[in-house]
Amino acid sequence: MRELERRERDTNGAKPALEGGGIAVVRSVAELRRALARARREGRTIGLVPTMGALHEGHLSLIRRARSDCEVVVVSLFVNPTQFAPGEDLSSYPRDEARDITLASDEGADLLFAPSEEEVYPAGPSTTVEVPELANVLCGAPEHRGPDHFRGVATVVAKLFNMCRPDVAYFGQKDFQQTLVIRRMVRDLWMPVRIEVCPTVRDPDGLALSSRNAYLTPRERERALSLHRALAAAAASIAAHASRADALAAARAALEAASVTPEYLEILSADDLTEPYWTPGEAVVIAIAARVGRARLIDNSIVQLPVFVSETVPT
Ligand code: PAJ
Repeated sequence: MRELERRERDTNGAKPALEGGGIAVVRSVAELRRALARARREGRTIGLVPTMGALHEGHLSLIRRARSDCEVVVVSLFVNPTQFAPGEDLSSYPRDEARDITLASDEGADLLFAPSEEEVYPAGPSTTVEVPELANVLCGAPEHRGPDHFRGVATVVAKLFNMCRPDVAYFGQKDFQQTLVIRRMVRDLWMPVRIEVCPTVRDPDGLALSSRNAYLTPRERERALSLHRALAAAAASIAAHASRADALAAARAALEAASVTPEYLEILSADDLTEPYWTPGEAVVIAIAARVGRARLIDNSIVQLPVFVSETVPT
């Protein structure tokens, strides 16, 4: 892809911001479109990985997947203010653009799109996109991050799709509700993009990678492991034919053992976050959010309710 970059530079004058590096850094939509013009004309597949930076293995797994699927890989880096509620960690959100550029480049990304707030919101807070049915539960519940959070996410992702016009966009299951909101937005608005959801990347001890793990002290990190343990306990109960209430109790016990009080702990339909019917084969999501020290952490696991009852049928 250094190829594409060189050709685009030669033909359109869109210079890579990094001299000698493999990746081109662009900050305006005009530059982004110029850099992608030839690839688009030639019908090459364009993959987009939207991020807020502070890249870790979770983000890199998405870039790797995009690299293996697509001919051109764009990583966007924008800490989107509209998805942070007042009092959340917008101002302290970890930022290290130079490191992010190196990491994205090492994974073979072709373009890093790092727009300013003015570029993304030229008219300030103006047109928005809402997916109310999926955005008012779990993280979107008024007592948690609130519905404005997913309005901010849907709006910025819609903007990024229009700016980059990717064929495929990659998201992590780690933010499961976000993937449902984006899928619904794409379907409802007939956006011409395929959404791929990639598995949650974890540390070897099970902690889901998150930019916010940087806030954890070693002691808090230990306690944070209880989120994964709680998911495992609920999943094991479900596999053993437990009721929803018993599966939730098993998860709650794992959190309590680490003195972690969840913001929410729920088991919902994995299709649309409604109450599950609890029928054999149904896919459910076990979802947890909890504050550990300064960090607000989320994790989830998708499981299928067992199909066969364990009792042997009398002959
Ligand atoms: P951010 O939190 O930076 O995450 C960017 C992408 O990386 C998301 O799709 C997220 O689900 C994925 N991701 C994060 N941790 C992961 C992990 N441990 N394993 C796999 N994937 C992981 O999510 C956002 O940014 C923003 O809301 C965004 C979509 C960019 C809109 O502003």
